[in-house]
Amino acid sequence: MQVPSWDELQNLLIDCLNGKHLWATALAVFIGTFLFMALKSWWDASQTIDLQASAIQVGDIIPTELAKYDGHDPFRAILVSLRGTILDVSAGKEMYGPGGSYAHFAGKEVARALGKMTMDPKDCTDKVDDLTPEQLKTLEDWETKLKAKYPVVGKVVPPKRLTLQQLREYGGQDKSKPILLAIRGVIFNVSRGAEFYGPDGIYPFAGHECARAFALISTDVADCNDNLEGLGAMELDNLRDWEAKFNFKYPIVGSLVKE
Ligand SMILES: *[C@@H]1O[C@H](CO)[C@@H](O)[C@H](O)[C@H]1NC(C)=O
Repeated sequence: MQVPSWDELQNLLIDCLNGKHLWATALAVFIGTFLFMALKSWWDASQTIDLQASAIQVGDIIPTELAKYDGHDPFRAILVSLRGTILDVSAGKEMYGPGGSYAHFAGKEVARALGKMTMDPKDCTDKVDDLTPEQLKTLEDWETKLKAKYPVVGKVVPPKRLTLQQLREYGGQDKSKPILLAIRGVIFNVSRGAEFYGPDGIYPFAGHECARAFALISTDVADCNDNLEGLGAMELDNLRDWEAKFNFKYPIVGSLVKE
């Protein structure tokens, strides 16, 4: 097919505008509209897929861990929980990020607050059994709306409560269990750092409470306890540094309880 010259195209356009070639004009408009709609829906779909793909799954996390995703840490997404289902609302940063009108929802369970349409931080819980039918309907509408808009990235689970004895079972020997260790009673999941803390690591502390060992920068399992007596300021500083590092790097999964 011969490509029409610029002059020919101009003449054709003028003819079209003058009402000649009416059928051709209608057809061109029709095909143009169809192509535009097809491209637009393809574009919208590809955007949705990108949103889902770019969202990082956090898996099963406890409320203390969810609280780390409140928008203050630039390395973390902004998350909210709706009756335990966690949504990544990072795309709505202006609303849920620091200074936003829903900033106090970030890192929290918000079912009750949405149902009651309140901004009261004490309504940031999953207690909805005493809501009126209208409030429950409001909550359901919000759930439908937010789940269509933001990707689901995990769910909230209750914290583990383990005795020292029970913690021992998470030392990395049993491959079906996560690798856990405790610092001052706070239990971290260090499965990702198995090469350091697992049975063959430099700090073979998995399954132990190891506050004292970290303060002393000891690699001796015999120092694994929470007795901080007799430690100096430098050693307590070491402990604080380790705790900060763990809080940043590993998820908290629960706390130690007395035997
Ligand atoms: C512990 O962490 C691993 C690796 O990140 C993960 O696959 C596992 O689900 C976590 N387990 C718990 C109980 O949090």
